[in-house]
Amino acid sequence: MKKILVTGGTGYIGSHTVVELQQQGYGVVIVDNLSNSVIEVLDNIEKISGKRPDYEQFDLADRDLTADFFKRHKDLDGIIHFAAFKAVGESVADPLKYYRNNLYSLIHVLEGMKAQNIPNLVFSSSCTVYGQPEELPVTELAPMQKAWSPYGNTKQMSEEIIRFTVESSSIKAIALRYFNPIGAHESALIGELPLGTPSNLMPFVTQTAIGIRQCLDVFGGDYNTPDGTAVRDYIHVVDLAKAHVIAVERMMGNKGKSNMEVFNLGTGNGLSVLEVIRSFEKVTGLKLNYKIVDRRPGDVEKVWADTRFANEELGWQAKKTVDDMTYSAWEWERRLAERRGA
Ligand code: UD1
Repeated sequence: MKKILVTGGTGYIGSHTVVELQQQGYGVVIVDNLSNSVIEVLDNIEKISGKRPDYEQFDLADRDLTADFFKRHKDLDGIIHFAAFKAVGESVADPLKYYRNNLYSLIHVLEGMKAQNIPNLVFSSSCTVYGQPEELPVTELAPMQKAWSPYGNTKQMSEEIIRFTVESSSIKAIALRYFNPIGAHESALIGELPLGTPSNLMPFVTQTAIGIRQCLDVFGGDYNTPDGTAVRDYIHVVDLAKAHVIAVERMMGNKGKSNMEVFNLGTGNGLSVLEVIRSFEKVTGLKLNYKIVDRRPGDVEKVWADTRFANEELGWQAKKTVDDMTYSAWEWERRLAERRGA
Protein backbone atom coordinates (compact mmCIF):
# COMPACT_ATOMS: atom_id res chain seq x y z
CA MET A 1 0.00 0.00 0.00
CA LYS A 2 1.36 3.42 -0.94
CA LYS A 3 1.78 5.74 2.00
CA ILE A 4 1.24 9.49 2.03
CA LEU A 5 2.12 11.99 4.77
CA VAL A 6 -0.54 14.65 5.16
CA THR A 7 0.68 17.57 7.25
CA GLY A 8 -2.15 19.59 8.70
CA GLY A 9 -4.35 16.53 8.13
CA THR A 10 -6.80 17.33 10.93
CA GLY A 11 -7.49 20.73 9.39
CA TYR A 12 -10.26 21.71 7.02
CA ILE A 13 -8.84 20.86 3.60
CA GLY A 14 -6.44 18.30 5.07
CA SER A 15 -9.16 16.14 6.64
CA HIS A 16 -11.19 16.02 3.42
CA THR A 17 -8.05 15.05 1.50
CA VAL A 18 -7.22 12.28 3.98
CA VAL A 19 -10.65 10.76 3.37
CA GLU A 20 -10.22 10.88 -0.43
CA LEU A 21 -6.76 9.28 -0.17
CA GLN A 22 -8.06 6.50 2.05
CA GLN A 23 -10.98 5.87 -0.27
CA GLN A 24 -8.50 5.48 -3.15
CA GLY A 25 -6.57 2.86 -1.17
CA TYR A 26 -3.70 4.94 0.23
CA GLY A 27 -2.28 4.58 3.71
CA VAL A 28 -2.13 7.94 5.47
CA VAL A 29 -0.03 9.33 8.28
CA ILE A 30 -1.06 12.73 9.62
CA VAL A 31 1.21 15.20 11.36
CA ASP A 32 -0.58 18.10 13.03
CA ASN A 33 0.05 20.29 16.07
CA LEU A 34 -3.67 21.04 16.55
CA SER A 35 -2.97 24.77 16.45
CA ASN A 36 -6.20 25.28 14.51
CA SER A 37 -7.97 21.91 14.70
CA VAL A 38 -9.19 19.32 17.20
CA ILE A 39 -8.26 15.69 17.77
CA GLU A 40 -11.88 14.47 17.34
CA VAL A 41 -11.42 14.96 13.60
CA LEU A 42 -9.54 11.62 13.61
CA ASP A 43 -12.63 9.83 14.95
CA ASN A 44 -14.78 11.41 12.27
CA ILE A 45 -12.36 10.55 9.48
CA GLU A 46 -12.49 6.96 10.74
CA LYS A 47 -16.31 7.00 10.78
CA ILE A 48 -16.35 8.02 7.12
CA SER A 49 -13.61 5.79 5.72
CA GLY A 50 -13.60 2.93 8.21
CA LYS A 51 -9.86 3.47 8.64
CA ARG A 52 -8.05 5.42 11.31
CA PRO A 53 -5.07 7.28 9.89
CA ASP A 54 -1.76 7.10 11.74
CA TYR A 55 -1.23 10.31 13.64
CA GLU A 56 1.64 12.16 15.25
CA GLN A 57 1.23 15.42 17.10
CA PHE A 58 4.14 17.82 16.90
CA ASP A 59 5.17 21.13 15.38
CA LEU A 60 6.92 20.92 12.02
CA ALA A 61 8.57 24.25 12.79
CA ASP A 62 10.68 22.21 15.25
CA ARG A 63 13.63 21.04 13.20
CA ASP A 64 14.77 18.20 15.45
CA LEU A 65 11.32 16.70 15.89
CA THR A 66 10.72 16.85 12.15
CA ALA A 67 14.08 15.24 11.31
CA ASP A 68 13.35 12.50 13.83
CA PHE A 69 9.92 11.88 12.28
CA PHE A 70 11.44 11.47 8.82
CA LYS A 71 14.07 9.02 10.12
CA ARG A 72 11.19 6.85 11.30
CA HIS A 73 9.22 7.26 8.03
CA LYS A 74 11.67 6.53 5.23
CA ASP A 75 9.01 4.62 3.32
CA LEU A 76 6.73 7.53 2.38
CA ASP A 77 5.67 7.71 -1.28
CA GLY A 78 4.61 11.32 -1.11
CA ILE A 79 3.75 14.29 1.05
CA ILE A 80 0.84 16.70 0.94
CA HIS A 81 1.88 19.74 2.93
CA PHE A 82 -1.09 21.70 4.27
CA ALA A 83 0.21 22.66 7.71
CA ALA A 84 0.36 26.45 7.84
CA PHE A 85 -1.27 29.50 9.36
CA LYS A 86 -3.81 31.14 7.04
CA ALA A 87 -5.50 34.13 8.64
CA VAL A 88 -4.70 37.13 6.48
CA GLY A 89 -5.51 39.76 9.16
CA GLU A 90 -3.47 38.01 11.85
CA SER A 91 -0.52 37.81 9.49
CA VAL A 92 -0.60 41.58 9.05
CA ALA A 93 -0.62 42.06 12.83
CA ASP A 94 2.14 39.50 13.48
CA PRO A 95 4.17 38.87 10.32
CA LEU A 96 7.04 37.04 12.00
CA LYS A 97 4.67 34.46 13.44
CA TYR A 98 3.65 33.67 9.85
CA TYR A 99 7.16 33.66 8.36
CA ARG A 100 8.46 31.49 11.21
CA ASN A 101 5.68 28.93 11.09
CA ASN A 102 4.95 28.68 7.39
CA LEU A 103 8.53 28.82 6.12
CA TYR A 104 10.31 26.79 8.79
CA SER A 105 7.74 24.02 8.49
CA LEU A 106 8.18 23.85 4.75
CA ILE A 107 11.99 23.92 4.95
CA HIS A 108 12.00 21.13 7.51
CA VAL A 109 9.69 19.01 5.37
CA LEU A 110 11.94 19.55 2.34
CA GLU A 111 15.04 18.69 4.41
CA GLY A 112 13.35 15.49 5.53
CA MET A 113 12.44 14.63 1.93
CA LYS A 114 16.02 15.13 0.80
CA ALA A 115 17.49 13.19 3.71
CA GLN A 116 15.20 10.19 3.21
CA ASN A 117 14.81 10.33 -0.58
CA ILE A 118 11.08 10.93 -0.50
CA PRO A 119 10.18 11.91 -4.05
CA ASN A 120 6.85 13.73 -4.31
CA LEU A 121 5.43 16.90 -2.75
CA VAL A 122 2.04 18.55 -3.15
CA PHE A 123 2.01 22.07 -1.73
CA SER A 124 -1.03 24.08 -0.64
CA SER A 125 -0.73 27.39 -2.37
CA SER A 126 -3.29 30.09 -2.92
CA CYS A 127 -4.72 32.46 -5.48
CA THR A 128 -3.52 35.15 -3.13
CA VAL A 129 -0.16 34.94 -4.97
CA TYR A 130 -1.82 36.83 -7.86
CA GLY A 131 -2.98 39.80 -5.78
CA GLN A 132 -5.57 41.68 -7.86
CA PRO A 133 -4.88 40.20 -11.31
CA GLU A 134 -4.95 42.49 -14.30
CA GLU A 135 -6.77 39.95 -16.44
CA LEU A 136 -9.61 37.64 -15.48
CA PRO A 137 -9.94 34.72 -15.41
CA VAL A 138 -6.41 34.47 -14.08
CA THR A 139 -4.08 31.84 -15.53
CA GLU A 140 -1.09 30.19 -13.88
CA LEU A 141 1.14 32.32 -16.10
CA ALA A 142 -0.05 35.61 -14.61
CA PRO A 143 2.79 37.30 -12.75
CA MET A 144 2.90 37.10 -8.98
CA GLN A 145 2.25 40.57 -7.64
CA LYS A 146 3.69 42.29 -4.64
CA ALA A 147 2.13 40.41 -1.74
CA TRP A 148 -0.96 41.95 -0.13
CA SER A 149 -0.19 40.33 3.24
CA PRO A 150 2.57 38.41 5.02
CA TYR A 151 0.36 35.32 4.69
CA GLY A 152 0.28 35.75 0.91
CA ASN A 153 4.00 36.44 0.91
CA THR A 154 4.68 33.12 2.69
CA LYS A 155 2.81 31.35 -0.13
CA GLN A 156 4.86 33.17 -2.78
CA MET A 157 8.11 32.50 -0.94
CA SER A 158 7.17 28.86 -0.37
CA GLU A 159 6.61 28.30 -4.07
CA GLU A 160 10.05 29.80 -4.78
CA ILE A 161 11.72 27.74 -2.07
CA ILE A 162 10.19 24.60 -3.55
CA ARG A 163 11.14 25.57 -7.11
CA PHE A 164 14.81 26.03 -6.30
CA THR A 165 14.89 22.88 -4.15
CA VAL A 166 13.36 20.84 -6.96
CA GLU A 167 15.94 22.22 -9.41
CA SER A 168 18.78 21.05 -7.21
CA SER A 169 17.43 17.64 -6.15
CA SER A 170 15.40 14.65 -7.29
CA ILE A 171 12.25 15.95 -5.58
CA LYS A 172 9.17 16.57 -7.74
CA ALA A 173 6.51 19.04 -6.68
CA ILE A 174 3.07 20.34 -7.59
CA ALA A 175 1.81 23.59 -6.11
CA LEU A 176 -1.98 23.84 -6.09
CA ARG A 177 -3.29 27.39 -5.99
CA TYR A 178 -6.66 27.24 -4.26
CA PHE A 179 -9.32 29.83 -4.86
CA ASN A 180 -11.98 29.91 -2.09
CA PRO A 181 -12.75 26.46 -0.67
CA ILE A 182 -16.09 26.21 1.15
CA GLY A 183 -18.63 23.47 1.95
CA ALA A 184 -18.17 20.20 3.80
CA HIS A 185 -18.16 16.44 3.35
CA GLU A 186 -21.58 14.99 2.52
CA SER A 187 -21.50 12.92 5.74
CA ALA A 188 -21.44 16.23 7.69
CA LEU A 189 -18.81 14.61 9.92
CA ILE A 190 -15.95 16.84 8.82
CA GLY A 191 -16.01 20.47 7.76
CA GLU A 192 -14.57 23.87 8.45
CA LEU A 193 -14.11 24.37 12.18
CA PRO A 194 -12.42 27.66 12.95
CA LEU A 195 -11.31 28.07 16.55
CA GLY A 196 -12.59 31.47 17.73
CA THR A 197 -14.21 34.07 15.51
CA PRO A 198 -14.14 33.00 11.87
CA SER A 199 -12.37 35.28 9.44
CA ASN A 200 -13.64 33.51 6.32
CA LEU A 201 -17.05 34.07 4.81
CA MET A 202 -18.75 30.66 4.91
CA PRO A 203 -18.18 29.76 8.58
CA PHE A 204 -19.35 33.25 9.49
CA VAL A 205 -22.51 32.69 7.46
CA THR A 206 -23.32 29.33 9.06
CA GLN A 207 -22.46 30.51 12.59
CA THR A 208 -24.73 33.52 12.12
CA ALA A 209 -27.55 31.34 10.84
CA ILE A 210 -27.27 28.99 13.81
CA GLY A 211 -27.17 31.86 16.30
CA ILE A 212 -23.53 31.83 17.45
CA ARG A 213 -23.05 35.22 15.78
CA GLN A 214 -25.57 38.05 15.69
CA CYS A 215 -25.02 39.43 12.23
CA LEU A 216 -22.79 38.88 9.21
CA ASP A 217 -20.85 41.94 8.12
CA VAL A 218 -20.58 42.02 4.33
CA PHE A 219 -17.32 43.82 3.68
CA GLY A 220 -17.90 46.44 1.01
CA GLY A 221 -20.91 47.24 -1.18
CA ASP A 222 -19.20 49.66 -3.53
CA TYR A 223 -16.87 47.43 -5.51
CA ASN A 224 -16.84 47.60 -9.28
CA THR A 225 -18.87 44.36 -9.56
CA PRO A 226 -22.45 43.69 -10.70
CA ASP A 227 -23.98 44.00 -7.21
CA GLY A 228 -21.18 45.99 -5.55
CA THR A 229 -19.89 43.14 -3.33
CA ALA A 230 -16.54 41.42 -3.88
CA VAL A 231 -16.29 38.45 -6.22
CA ARG A 232 -14.45 35.16 -5.57
CA ASP A 233 -14.22 31.70 -7.12
CA TYR A 234 -15.79 29.47 -4.46
CA ILE A 235 -14.99 25.78 -4.82
CA HIS A 236 -16.37 22.78 -2.93
CA VAL A 237 -13.74 21.39 -0.56
CA VAL A 238 -14.41 17.80 -1.73
CA ASP A 239 -13.71 18.77 -5.36
CA LEU A 240 -10.53 20.39 -4.12
CA ALA A 241 -9.52 17.35 -2.05
CA LYS A 242 -9.90 15.03 -5.05
CA ALA A 243 -7.40 17.13 -7.03
CA HIS A 244 -4.74 16.35 -4.42
CA VAL A 245 -5.03 12.61 -5.03
CA ILE A 246 -4.71 13.23 -8.77
CA ALA A 247 -1.65 15.43 -8.22
CA VAL A 248 0.08 12.76 -6.13
CA GLU A 249 -0.68 10.13 -8.78
CA ARG A 250 0.60 12.38 -11.56
CA MET A 251 3.99 12.59 -9.88
CA MET A 252 4.08 8.90 -8.93
CA GLY A 253 3.30 8.00 -12.54
CA ASN A 254 5.93 10.44 -13.87
CA LYS A 255 3.26 12.16 -15.93
CA GLY A 256 4.33 15.72 -15.17
CA LYS A 257 5.64 18.04 -17.86
CA SER A 258 8.32 19.32 -15.49
CA ASN A 259 9.50 18.58 -11.97
CA MET A 260 7.66 21.58 -10.57
CA GLU A 261 4.14 22.30 -11.79
CA VAL A 262 1.53 24.80 -10.69
CA PHE A 263 -2.24 24.48 -11.09
CA ASN A 264 -5.18 26.72 -10.31
CA LEU A 265 -7.97 24.96 -8.44
CA GLY A 266 -11.25 26.76 -8.85
CA THR A 267 -14.52 26.40 -10.71
CA GLY A 268 -13.82 29.20 -13.16
CA ASN A 269 -16.92 31.10 -12.00
CA GLY A 270 -16.88 34.27 -9.97
CA LEU A 271 -19.62 34.76 -7.36
CA SER A 272 -20.31 37.83 -5.26
CA VAL A 273 -20.76 37.72 -1.49
CA LEU A 274 -24.48 38.45 -2.00
CA GLU A 275 -24.81 35.58 -4.47
CA VAL A 276 -23.36 33.19 -1.88
CA ILE A 277 -25.82 34.54 0.72
CA ARG A 278 -28.74 34.13 -1.73
CA SER A 279 -27.74 30.52 -2.40
CA PHE A 280 -27.49 29.85 1.34
CA GLU A 281 -30.93 31.35 1.97
CA LYS A 282 -32.45 29.38 -0.91
CA VAL A 283 -31.12 25.94 0.05
CA THR A 284 -31.76 26.33 3.79
CA GLY A 285 -35.01 28.31 3.67
CA LEU A 286 -33.50 30.60 6.33
CA LYS A 287 -33.23 34.35 6.36
CA LEU A 288 -29.69 35.44 7.11
CA ASN A 289 -29.11 38.51 9.25
CA TYR A 290 -26.49 40.56 7.43
CA LYS A 291 -25.54 44.16 6.76
CA ILE A 292 -23.19 45.84 4.33
CA VAL A 293 -20.28 47.60 6.04
CA ASP A 294 -16.97 49.14 4.96
CA ARG A 295 -14.51 47.20 2.85
CA ARG A 296 -12.06 44.95 4.72
CA PRO A 297 -8.51 46.24 4.32
CA GLY A 298 -6.41 43.98 2.12
CA ASP A 299 -9.33 42.42 0.22
CA VAL A 300 -9.10 42.31 -3.56
CA GLU A 301 -12.12 43.31 -5.62
CA LYS A 302 -12.52 40.26 -7.80
CA VAL A 303 -10.69 37.09 -8.71
CA TRP A 304 -11.63 33.88 -10.44
CA ALA A 305 -9.63 31.09 -12.03
CA ASP A 306 -8.81 30.05 -15.52
CA THR A 307 -9.09 26.32 -14.89
CA ARG A 308 -8.16 25.03 -18.36
CA PHE A 309 -4.68 23.90 -17.40
CA ALA A 310 -5.96 21.83 -14.46
CA ASN A 311 -8.86 20.51 -16.54
CA GLU A 312 -6.67 19.43 -19.44
CA GLU A 313 -3.52 18.28 -17.68
CA LEU A 314 -4.95 16.78 -14.50
CA GLY A 315 -8.17 15.60 -16.12
CA TRP A 316 -9.88 17.19 -13.14
CA GLN A 317 -12.86 19.47 -12.99
CA ALA A 318 -14.84 20.94 -10.12
CA LYS A 319 -18.29 19.32 -10.27
CA LYS A 320 -20.29 20.71 -7.38
CA THR A 321 -22.49 23.78 -7.56
CA VAL A 322 -22.66 26.70 -5.20
CA ASP A 323 -25.89 25.28 -3.81
CA ASP A 324 -24.05 22.02 -3.00
CA MET A 325 -21.43 24.12 -1.23
CA THR A 326 -23.77 26.23 0.89
CA TYR A 327 -26.08 23.29 1.69
CA SER A 328 -23.24 21.02 2.84
CA ALA A 329 -21.73 23.84 4.91
CA TRP A 330 -25.08 24.29 6.65
CA GLU A 331 -25.56 20.56 7.24
CA TRP A 332 -22.11 20.44 8.81
CA GLU A 333 -22.85 23.38 11.14
CA ARG A 334 -26.26 21.98 12.07
CA ARG A 335 -24.98 18.46 12.82
CA LEU A 336 -22.03 19.88 14.75
CA ALA A 337 -24.46 21.74 17.00
CA GLU A 338 -26.47 18.52 17.47
CA ARG A 339 -23.37 16.53 18.36
CA ARG A 340 -22.33 19.19 20.86
CA GLY A 341 -25.80 19.15 22.37
CA ALA A 342 -26.62 22.77 21.52
C1 UD1 B 1 -8.19 35.01 1.31
C2 UD1 B 1 -7.29 34.70 0.15
C3 UD1 B 1 -7.11 33.22 0.03
C4 UD1 B 1 -6.66 32.65 1.34
C5 UD1 B 1 -7.68 32.94 2.39
C6 UD1 B 1 -7.21 32.39 3.71
C7 UD1 B 1 -7.44 36.28 -1.71
C8 UD1 B 1 -8.10 36.63 -2.99
N1 UD1 B 1 -7.86 35.18 -1.11
O1 UD1 B 1 -9.45 34.64 0.90
O2 UD1 B 1 -6.15 32.97 -0.94
O3 UD1 B 1 -6.43 31.29 1.24
O4 UD1 B 1 -7.83 34.36 2.50
O5 UD1 B 1 -8.05 32.75 4.76
O6 UD1 B 1 -6.57 36.97 -1.23
N2 UD1 B 1 -16.40 38.41 3.68
C9 UD1 B 1 -17.43 39.15 4.23
N3 UD1 B 1 -17.70 38.99 5.55
C10 UD1 B 1 -16.99 38.13 6.36
C11 UD1 B 1 -15.94 37.39 5.79
C12 UD1 B 1 -15.67 37.56 4.44
O7 UD1 B 1 -18.08 39.93 3.54
O8 UD1 B 1 -17.30 38.06 7.57
C13 UD1 B 1 -16.11 38.56 2.24
C14 UD1 B 1 -14.70 39.05 1.98
O9 UD1 B 1 -14.63 40.44 1.99
C15 UD1 B 1 -14.45 38.44 0.60
C16 UD1 B 1 -15.26 37.14 0.63
O10 UD1 B 1 -16.22 37.30 1.67
O11 UD1 B 1 -14.97 39.26 -0.40
C17 UD1 B 1 -14.42 35.92 0.93
O12 UD1 B 1 -13.65 36.18 2.09
P1 UD1 B 1 -12.82 35.06 2.82
O13 UD1 B 1 -13.63 33.83 3.01
O14 UD1 B 1 -12.20 35.67 4.04
O15 UD1 B 1 -11.68 34.67 1.78
P2 UD1 B 1 -10.67 35.62 0.98
O16 UD1 B 1 -10.34 36.82 1.76
O17 UD1 B 1 -11.18 35.79 -0.41
